[in-house]
Order: sequence, then structure tokens, then C-alpha cells
Amino acid sequence: MTARLNINIDHVATVRQARRASEPSVVAAALACEQAGADGITVHLRGDRRHIQDGDIHLLRETLVTYLNVEMAATDEMSQIALDTLPDAVTLVPENPNEITTEGGLNVSASLEVVRSIVGRLREAEIFASIFIDPEAAQIEAARATGAQQVELCTANYAEATLGARHTRADGRERIDAELHRLREAATLAAQYGLRVAVGHGLTYRNVGAIAAIEEVEEFNIGHNIVARALFAGLHEAVREMRGAIREGTNVKTKNSFLDNRAALS
Ligand code: PXP
Repeated sequence: MTARLNINIDHVATVRQARRASEPSVVAAALACEQAGADGITVHLRGDRRHIQDGDIHLLRETLVTYLNVEMAATDEMSQIALDTLPDAVTLVPENPNEITTEGGLNVSASLEVVRSIVGRLREAEIFASIFIDPEAAQIEAARATGAQQVELCTANYAEATLGARHTRADGRERIDAELHRLREAATLAAQYGLRVAVGHGLTYRNVGAIAAIEEVEEFNIGHNIVARALFAGLHEAVREMRGAIREGTNVKTKNSFLDNRAALS
């Protein structure tokens, strides 16, 4: 069975908020993704509202025909918004106001009671409860103890290992293999516990193949690389290409790689 693909469209809102303007429309982007074969839309409502706004969640809830997954911090403010808007799923994520993007998974064991209580409220409202965690046994066990139905395994370390040409060297390959091994073990353990397994963070056309080959993975949440590709290829084509890469379980070697701006960042 091909895993589901949710497109994270936060960056569409990032462009809009750069001008506090009304375009580009997050709803139009979501519908374009759905038409191109996405199984759902993911957005992150951050405490600082730097991209997605509360109104976006309401509009998406009214217009989407597939699946709405809202990432949010495990706070009372956020869980109340979820209860008011009733997305299909909520993914609890850690949030640090100074971060550029989510940095690693939620430390569930360190805040077990708070997370358990929020998961309980979400489930009572029939919202599917997922928790974004690092691929570690202790976090999977803690997530299970909260009553969550899914874990989203953080692929940031794997993605980081695949960056650049280093993976052609033996040490780079070893690091990639070690991260893949961690993800595989975590996926197996989570599935044994009856948890559904999602993955996300830093996945690209160039590294998604090996993750798509992990049998237990049922859902992908991918944003940055697809929106970046969409600037050149259009959203429809960008989503279609990622859908294909996941279905085939293959990396797309050339997508973006010759156009990216890594030299300017180093
Ligand atoms: N999953 C989670 C929990 C995230 O926080 C993010 C980033 O917002 C993603 C997936 C998507 O990551 P990326 O934009 O790197 O594809």
C-alpha cells in the first residue's frame, strides 16, 4: 500500500505574511495540492503566528475535501483552537520561539501528564492524535502511554546526513545507514504497539526513496522541498512528482539539486 502524502503548505503563508497581504492564498494552494493527488494538507499554527493564521485553519476546515492535519504545541491555547475547528488530525510538536523550524521531536516522557491530558481531549472530540517524536524507543513508549494513535518520526537527522555530496564517501554513507536503521527500528516498534507511523522533516525528492521503502510508514508530511520545487515547476507538478517518488520508493536525483543555493549558505 502506498503511504499517504500530506503537503505542508506553511511556506505559502510565509510568502503571504512577508507582505501581510491576501495572496498567495493558502486555500488555493491546498486545493491545488489535493487536485494533484495529495492525500491531505498539513499546517503548523505557531504561537507567534509567523505564517499560518487562525483564520486559515477555519477556512481550510471548510474547504478541504481530503484531510487536515494541524501541527501545534501541547498547550491549552492550541488544544482549544483544535476543539473549536475540529481538524481531522492534530500533531503535537515542540515549539521554541527562536527556532527557524521545528527542532527535533517532542520530549513526551518529560511532559507525559500534559500531553496525555491534551491527547485525551482531542480523542474525545474525535480528532486523530499524533505526536512528533525522535525515533527513540523511550519516546515511542511515552507516546503510547499518552493514548496517541500515531507517532510522526522526525527524519531531520536522516535528512541532514543526506545533504551534499558527502554521502558518496564511506563515512557519509555510514551515517545515512545508521539514521535509516534508527528509523526502521522505531517504525517497527511503534507498529508493534499498534501505533500508526508517519514521518516528516527535511525530506526531499533526493532522499525520500529509502524512507518510502520502510513498510510501516503510512504517512509523509513534506513541505519545504515541495514548495521550493513548485516555484519552478508549479504546485501541481511538484506534488505529482513527490507522489510518484513515494509510490516508486525511488529518489529523484536531479530535482532542485542543480538549482539550489547551497554555495550561498556556506
Ligand atoms: N512534520 C513536522 C512535525 C514539521 O514540524 C514539519 C515542518 O513544519 C514537517 C513535517 C515538514 O518538514 P519540511 O518542511 O522540512 O518538509
